[in-house]
Amino acid sequence: EPLLSSKHVLSGLTFTITAGPTREAIDPVRYISNHSSGKMGYALAEAAVKAGAKVTLISGPVQLPAPAGVQMIQVESAEQMHQAALTAAAQSAIFIGCAAVADYRMSEIATDKLKKGSESELQLTLVKNPDIIAAVAGMNKNRPFTVGFAAETRNVLDYARQKLLNKKLDMICANDVSKPNSGFNSNQNAITLIWPLGELDLPVQPKQQLAEQLIALISQHYHALEKK
Ligand code: C5P
Repeated sequence: EPLLSSKHVLSGLTFTITAGPTREAIDPVRYISNHSSGKMGYALAEAAVKAGAKVTLISGPVQLPAPAGVQMIQVESAEQMHQAALTAAAQSAIFIGCAAVADYRMSEIATDKLKKGSESELQLTLVKNPDIIAAVAGMNKNRPFTVGFAAETRNVLDYARQKLLNKKLDMICANDVSKPNSGFNSNQNAITLIWPLGELDLPVQPKQQLAEQLIALISQHYHALEKK
């Protein structure tokens, strides 16, 4: 069992981690977002710092305190997260995309509050957000070892394997969010860690404990790749 027992096993290693939801403005008072709590990403940041790593945490709006020793970058929208992530990733050995990035944003944010009309339907036009982790994994200079998450409610492993390939990631954490004790708002989680040549089941456990295992495993795979 890999464990981050000693304090400085990761000293000198730099991580960038994205966490939480993004918030896509509709008008000055409304937005589109999701139920991501940020707990998993914050737990990963804490675990990496505890092991001696230097961590930049790029976070959407969440109700969590900044973990001690972490460099925080607070963002709201996917576009802001995209910009911050590309800059930080170029200076990192390892990038973990844990954020639940909104897939779409408004094609135009209304400058004034939208007014309720007499129509019974309202249509909003949305445009696709940049895929942040795919952009990081596709960097041709200073590309970090890139780890994603796949939160799914069905065909979890299949979709995760596809994302690993399509986004050209080094590893992906497959996360079944349909189960009551995993994913989104829970304090516990279970994950299958998938990489091109293998898979490992990490059973349901507190997010802190799971985060320590994940950081240890990710670092091992990163170092194994470095030695080639
Ligand atoms: O495609 P999907 O959203 O399911 O992929 C999830 C993974 O991709 C997560 O690691 C998430 O942080 C990342 N992602 C991203 N930018 C997006 C959408 C997802 O970085 N626009």
